[in-house]
Parts: sequence; structure tokens; C-alpha cells
Amino acid sequence: MDQLIAEKLRGDSRVVEAKRLLMEACAAAQQEIKGIRPAKASLKASYDEWIRSAEELRGAPLFHPLIGSGIGRGALVELADGSHRFDLISGVGVHFGHSLPLLLSATIDAALDDIVMQGNLEQNREAITLMRLLAQHSQLDHCFLSTSGAMACENALKIAFQANYPRTRLLAFNGCFAGRTLALAQITDTAKYREGLPTPIFVDYLPFFSHERPEESLLEAMACLKEHLRRYPKQHAALMLELIQGEGGVYPGARSFFAPLMELCRAEGILIIADEVQSFGRTDHLFAYQHFALSELVDIATVGKLTQVCATLFRSKDKPRPGLLSQTFIASSASLHAALAILQSLIHDGYLGSDGKNMRLGALFQARLEALHRKMPDRIRGPFGIGTMVAFTPYDGSYERSVDFANRLFNAGVIGFIAGSHPTRIRFLLPAGGIREEDIDEVAEIIESLLCEDG
Ligand SMILES: Cc1ncc(COP(=O)(O)O)c(C=O)c1O
Repeated sequence: MDQLIAEKLRGDSRVVEAKRLLMEACAAAQQEIKGIRPAKASLKASYDEWIRSAEELRGAPLFHPLIGSGIGRGALVELADGSHRFDLISGVGVHFGHSLPLLLSATIDAALDDIVMQGNLEQNREAITLMRLLAQHSQLDHCFLSTSGAMACENALKIAFQANYPRTRLLAFNGCFAGRTLALAQITDTAKYREGLPTPIFVDYLPFFSHERPEESLLEAMACLKEHLRRYPKQHAALMLELIQGEGGVYPGARSFFAPLMELCRAEGILIIADEVQSFGRTDHLFAYQHFALSELVDIATVGKLTQVCATLFRSKDKPRPGLLSQTFIASSASLHAALAILQSLIHDGYLGSDGKNMRLGALFQARLEALHRKMPDRIRGPFGIGTMVAFTPYDGSYERSVDFANRLFNAGVIGFIAGSHPTRIRFLLPAGGIREEDIDEVAEIIESLLCEDG
């Protein structure tokens, strides 16, 4: 009797049947996507025009001539030129897979919502369910949703600076990427991303972990940290870090490296911000700091990309005062429904754990790349990464050769991307919800044939 009208609508037999038909039609259409397929000659002119318009409107070239048609199947995507390609970069880590039934179901539900965008003033129940789940699984107390990874990171900085007022400086690692706002472009360790911009924040950098020299890299980072603390006593509000550097070139750290640095920071009253925008959901745990058993040392965390909705997670002790955090939108209804579906799937469908799908997919891909390295050590180095973050260095790792390799990969039907400089690597963010082990085998064969072509 007390059933909400919204619930009655969702249970209406016409809605249930319409949803079933939509899912059925999508599944039938997907049957046509069977593997890599070249572009259709008849679509070439219109596709070229889409690309030309996109570049003209953006005022900048696209990295790949990549415009989707609106359907895919797992790791495969149909482009608007009629080609089918493996998408192993997932819009840089956003897609769990293409046209996945669980996401289609979630977003059909979202289409019935009364509002398209949900915000800070008005939100529906799924926003609160998502906040609860993220807070609970992060082992932190509070969750503030936002529309981009950059906004989640800005909010993290605001929380840290307010909690640690009047400290004004920040610590970060060499090679880090933090996002594209004025403050985050300043933190990001790439000069061209902040060319011509004013300096809104003062950042002191520490050398990052080296796999080749683990002990020495800790000693160097510790000495550098102590030097910054000596030079600017009680002036650092936070250490902001990626436990697995993504854009910087796919460099995982290690517990033995992070823990002593984080402990010293904590002892100095410096808050630890773990930027998990890229690493969330890609290892044996939801959060990379859980993978590295560092949960107790993290004060604030940010998530984005795979979560569809971005968020800043923090402890009660650092709770910001009213007025510090807000914005019109938190997410679209579709993103919220999709975020819940992905999170539930990651937790319940076997993705996590040391033998979970994330680690197995990563290990399989790495084994294939490792075999290529043994066969052609001068043409491919690596592999690098962890879980579904995978990378290798082609040839000498120069920017030009790596971009060229990414382009050849694209032309051969595999969408990857580059990361880092000196070396520039080819990297993948695997769509764990859609990719199959045989897809990885096929991609590895394509990589091998491209490397051999150069012989
Ligand atoms: C570690 C990290 N932080 C923050 C961001 C910024 O996220 P967004 O592009 O959604 O603003 C990114 C994006 O690549 C990232 O990798």
C-alpha cells in the first residue's frame, strides 16, 4: 500500500517487458561483432568528415581517429567507420566493457528516472547508496561525490589545506599526474601541462620508487623528504600520491617504500592523500592502498574513471567546515546507476583477490609480453604494471617511436595509448568486465607481428 509510485513504475509489466526487449535487441545486434574488422569503404568519406569536424571544433588533433558508433561487445567496439577494434584503453580507464548487459540494464533503469543530472541540492537514493558503498569499502568515514577526477582531487586538496591551516605547501612524487585544473596542473610533474599558467600552489617533489633499486630509492626519497621538512618546517599540509603511477608511465610502488615515508609525514602532521582515480578497481583490492596494505596510513582518497562517478573519501577528523565543498552536479542518473552496477560486480563477480579476474588478466597479458621481450629484447622492454594496468616500452622508448607504434597498433585493430616520457610506454587499461583471455592472446599476437614487421 505504501509502495512508491517510482517503484510501481519499475515493476509495471510493460516496463519489465520493454526492458527485456531492449536487452534482447542489443544482445542480437551484438552477435554481428565477432572480432577485428576493417572499416567499410562506403563510410570512409563520412568518417573522415566526423574526424575533421572533431579536430576543428576542439582546436586540436585527436590522438587516434576514434569515434564510436554506439555499440560494442565486451572488449570490442564498433567505430563509426564500421570497423571493429579491441579497445584496451577504455576511454583511458573509464569503460568496464562495451555494451555490457549489466550496464545496459542499469542505464535503462536510469532512463526512467525523473531527472537526468543529480546534484548537491537534489539527489535520488542511488547517490546515497553509492556514497555508503564507497565509504564502507574505502575504510574511510565520509564520501563526497563529484563529476570528474580533477574535481575529486581539488576537493581532497581543499579538505587537506583547511584541516591543516595555515600550512600552504604540498608534497608529491616525481612523475606524478594529478589532473587538469590550475592547481592540479601545477602538481602534475609535466612542464608542458602548465605552460603559461600562474603558480597557485607550491609543491615539493620526492623521487619515486625504483624497482631496480628499491632500497636506494627509499633512502633517496627519505633524504629528500627530510630536506623539504627542514627547509619548510610545518608548512606541508599533505602528501598527494598515486600508489601506481598511471599517466607518468605505469609505475607501481611498493609497501616497503611508501610506508616509512607516509609514517614520517604522519608524524609531522602531514595528511596523506591517495589519488586512486586511475588505480581504483584494477588490482586484487578495490583500492590500491589496500593492495599495498596501507589503509591505516591514508587520510583522504579520490576515485574516478571506472567508478563512473568521482568521489573524495575522508576521515571524520578532517571533516571540512560547511561551505568548503559543493557543486551543482554530482553525476548523471545513468552514471550513478552504472557506478553501482560496476561496484557490485567488482565486489561480487570474482574480480578481486589474488586469484581474481583483475590479477589473472594482468598476469596473462604480462606473461605474453614477457615472452615477446625474451624473443626480441631490443624491440620490447617490460612488461610493467599490475592487475589491469599493463604497459611495455617499444624499441628505445622515444616519444616518436612509441606514438608510431600506438598508431600501427590502432591500424591493426587494437586501441592502446601512450604514457610517460623517457621512456614513453605503450599502455593499456583493460576493460575487465568485457575482455576474455582469448582476446589477450589475439592482441599479443598482433603486437608480435608488428614488432616482427620491423625486422
Ligand atoms: C591519477 C589521476 N588523478 C586525477 C585524474 C583526473 O581525472 P579526470 O580526467 O577525470 O579529471 C587522472 C586522469 O587521468 C588521473 O589519472
